[in-house]
Amino acid sequence: MKTKLISPSLLSADFGNLERDINMLNDSQSDWLHVDVMDGRFVPNISFGFPVMKTVQEHSKKFVDVHLMIVEPEKYVEEFIYLGADLVSVHYEACTHLNRTIDLIQKKGAKAGVVLNPATPVLMLEDIIEMVDLVLLMSVNPGFGGQKFIKNTYKKIAETKDLILTNNSRALIEVDGGVNLENASKLFEAGADVLVAGNAVFSAEDPAKMIELLKI
Ligand code: DX5
Ligand code: ZN
Repeated sequence: MKTKLISPSLLSADFGNLERDINMLNDSQSDWLHVDVMDGRFVPNISFGFPVMKTVQEHSKKFVDVHLMIVEPEKYVEEFIYLGADLVSVHYEACTHLNRTIDLIQKKGAKAGVVLNPATPVLMLEDIIEMVDLVLLMSVNPGFGGQKFIKNTYKKIAETKDLILTNNSRALIEVDGGVNLENASKLFEAGADVLVAGNAVFSAEDPAKMIELLKI
């Protein structure tokens, strides 16, 4: 898969004009569409669920990247895949049987990602890295858009890259939280393949132009 991808987060879109915002992304250079699902239990916020996912399925022409910030994600992955998820990422911290959940996502026909919170060490992935299609590194504590980027993420990108190379894994590295024009090129240089951007894109005067700029 080609790298230097941008995945704008729908969490920062205008929910009164969801179709308009999804169409804007369709016409932009964005590669993926990031869908943040929050349950008010794994994270201290509730975002949206299946009805919004259905709207995404109806209108988006982009690769749909679903980030589940929920407890017991294994109960819901099938429905998200049915509703058009191309990739489903689940938190290491939320999965008692991570191997089984990754296997379930792949068997149902989607790519599978594993997500690490800022305080979870990369070495926890040693026994799953061969299996996953993507590692999503949280560069903020999950739950809200518009937070400040945590700089320790650069170290974790390097460690993830090492782990991937050592294990001959195909996994892409995605970074989520506080991505902006200041850090995007540094993150790609450090080894990130995909950058999520919510606030940076949707609070820009020209969101499509911002997506272009984030890729440079
Ligand atoms: C945070 C979410 C992020 C968020 C990113 O819990 O997982 O995807 O939308 O938003 P920004 O880019 O505004 O930090
Ligand atoms: Zn996210």
